[in-house]
Amino acid sequence: MMATTKKSEKFAVFGHPIGHSKSPVIHQQFAKQFGLDIQYDAVDVASGEFENAVNDFARAGGKGLNITVPYKLEAWLLADTRSERAELAGAVNTLKFATDSIGSHDELKIFGDNTDGFGLVTDIVNNCQFDIKNKKVLVLGAGGAVRGVLAPLLDCQPQLLVLANRTVSKAEALVEIFSSKGNIKATGFDGLADQHFDLVINGTAASLKGEVPPLPGTIFTTNALAYDLMYSAKPTAFMVWAKYHGATKQVDGLGMLVEQAAESFYIWCGKRPDTGPVIKLLR
Ligand code: ATR
Repeated sequence: MMATTKKSEKFAVFGHPIGHSKSPVIHQQFAKQFGLDIQYDAVDVASGEFENAVNDFARAGGKGLNITVPYKLEAWLLADTRSERAELAGAVNTLKFATDSIGSHDELKIFGDNTDGFGLVTDIVNNCQFDIKNKKVLVLGAGGAVRGVLAPLLDCQPQLLVLANRTVSKAEALVEIFSSKGNIKATGFDGLADQHFDLVINGTAASLKGEVPPLPGTIFTTNALAYDLMYSAKPTAFMVWAKYHGATKQVDGLGMLVEQAAESFYIWCGKRPDTGPVIKLLR
C-alpha cells in the first residue's frame, strides 16, 4: 500500500502593507488547539493585483483568505455570494473557496463574509463583560471600519447609537443605511455637548496619528467603557484621553482582532477556537 502524506490546508491574509500582521500567529494558535496542520501566510499584494492574486491562490488549492486594508471593498466586489452581514458592511474580510463541477470543468465559487463586527461585539460582551442591550452607545467615525461594525452593534439592541463624524454627511449616509436595524442618529462632534454614553467606540483614523477627535470631556457616564478599534503596544491616544475624562475601562482592538479571526476560522474549519489564551499570548 502506498503511504499517503496529509497535505496541510492553505490560508493567508492579503493586504498592503502586511508586514505587521498578527494573523499568521493567531491562526496557527487556533489550528494547534485542534491538532490541525495548516499553512497561513501574510501576503503583500501590490495595487492592481488583488483579483489575480485571489484567483491564483484559490486555484492552487487555497481554502480561505482574510482580507485587510486596502482590499476589503475589492473582496466584496469579487465574491460570488455574500453573507447578510457582509452585504450591510459593504466590505469583506473573509473569503472561502469552493469548486463546482460544471460539465467537464470545475468552476471556482467565492463566498465573502465580514467578521469584524462580530469580533468587536464578542470582545465587548464576552471579554469585557459589557452588556450592550439598552445602553447608550457613541461611535466615532463614519468610514469603512465603522460601517463594518454597525449592524452587529445594533443587533445587540442598544437604547441609542449616536454616530459622530467630522464630516456629518458621511454619518448621515450611514444612518440612512442602518436606520431599519435600530435607534441610530448622526451628529458632528459639536453636537455631543451635554450627552453621556455608557460605551464609546473610536473608529476614526485619528488614532493612527496619535490624535483624538475634538470631544467634550463630559461624554462618559459612570461605569463607561471606552473602546478603540485600533490596537498598539501602548494605550492609544483615545484610551489615555478616556481614562483622564473618567471612563471606567479603556480597551484597544486586540481582542476584536482575535475574535474576528476566530469567526473566520470557524467559517473555514467549522471549529470554534478558544480565544482567551491567544489574546493573552499576544499581550
Ligand atoms: P477606515 O477604513 O479606517 O474607516 P476611512 O474610511 O478613511 O478609514 O475613514 C476614516 C474615518 O476617520 C472617517 O470617519 C474620518 O472622518 P471624515 O469622514 O470627516 O474624513 C475620520 N478621521 C480621520 N482623521 C480624523 C481626525 N484627525 N479627527 C477626526 N476624525 C478623523
